[in-house]
Amino acid sequence: MYDVNKIRKDFPMLDGTKLNQGHPLVYLDNAATTFKPKCVIEACNRYYEEECANSHRGDYDLAYKVDVTVDEVRNKVAKFINAKKEEVVFTSGTSMSINLVASGYGVKHLKKGDEILLTEAEHASNVLPWFKVKEMTGCSINYIPLDKEGRLTVENVKKTINKNTKIVAIAQITNVLGYLCDVKEIAKVCHEYGAILVLDGAQSIPHVPVDVKDLDCDFLSFSGHKIYGPTGIGVLYGKFELLQDTDPFMSGGGNNARFDMCGNVSFLQPPAKFEAGTLNLAGIYGLGAAIDYVNKIGMEEIHKYELELRNYAVSKLKTLQNLIIYNEFAEGGIITINVKDVFAQDEASYLNSKGICVRSGEHCAKILHDFLKTMATVRISFGLYNTKEEIDVLYETLKNGGDFLDAYF
Ligand code: ALA
Repeated sequence: MYDVNKIRKDFPMLDGTKLNQGHPLVYLDNAATTFKPKCVIEACNRYYEEECANSHRGDYDLAYKVDVTVDEVRNKVAKFINAKKEEVVFTSGTSMSINLVASGYGVKHLKKGDEILLTEAEHASNVLPWFKVKEMTGCSINYIPLDKEGRLTVENVKKTINKNTKIVAIAQITNVLGYLCDVKEIAKVCHEYGAILVLDGAQSIPHVPVDVKDLDCDFLSFSGHKIYGPTGIGVLYGKFELLQDTDPFMSGGGNNARFDMCGNVSFLQPPAKFEAGTLNLAGIYGLGAAIDYVNKIGMEEIHKYELELRNYAVSKLKTLQNLIIYNEFAEGGIITINVKDVFAQDEASYLNSKGICVRSGEHCAKILHDFLKTMATVRISFGLYNTKEEIDVLYETLKNGGDFLDAYF
């Protein structure tokens, strides 16, 4: 049985002492980042206080302990997404992971005449690295049309993909509209055309079970901090043979086997090939604890609970006549709204003044707002610790907004 009150006790940020503008904190910006449970903070501290050494370099017990933990966490991540350990690369986050694929695989393999397919709903981190590939290789970038609701459908992938398509780069759950796409079917279509599927998992990994073998995606990126782990640590999953066929994004200590004065370099096998320099070791310790934490609750249970929260929130918000909901039927724990005639940032500032944290603006998905025909939106995003009581606070605050904003009726 999902016990949200028990879960909340694990999070120091939710201990009831934290105020926002003098009001109890209501944190509804989990798509931006999540709070950390004590076990994650303790794991990071364990690295700094008890096991501080570099990894893969030292010939002493302390360094060995760190090596063992890095290896264990890599295994944990691999199991979590059903990959092999050697297919899991530690990065700084989703942005770095996608940049690694774009520069290491895209620039290496694409040429003039080739095509990359994106959608208008992508986050900047899944658009800008591909612009760079276009600039460097002369390939083209096109967009798979979204349906009326803003969803990516398999049908539209089929209509757009062609023999020149080499890469399809999409979010499994988009960060503004929160739609979950049918990755499994899309991967089949991509592979029929000989294209690879690069998946942005930043918004899906924390909220739904993900099995890379079942989905058959070729690359998957995600961030630790969105799944209750530390900032500055992320993951790139890639099919091993594709990782072998990808150039390292950066070079240095730890990713080469040999080099000589003439510039001959042989790189290590993946994942070490992509992990030059000292890793974010405290981050890796924390990520391991975060994965244990969500596993203990269960990803299916988390998804079910967040959907329940979403449905509850939508049913209440729908009763407010002055509210536009852009994604009533999304599968992710994201609700994107505007209050009629109120600028999104004003609305977010008003909510902030009552203790409620939401994100407003374009949410880094700057092309999507042309599709939505609005300059900015307010995004409410749930995490595993949010409650119906918090949604009630949001609802009442939105309902009573007229006291605060002239344009708010
Ligand atoms: N990518 C994060 C978001 O969508 C920061 O808010």
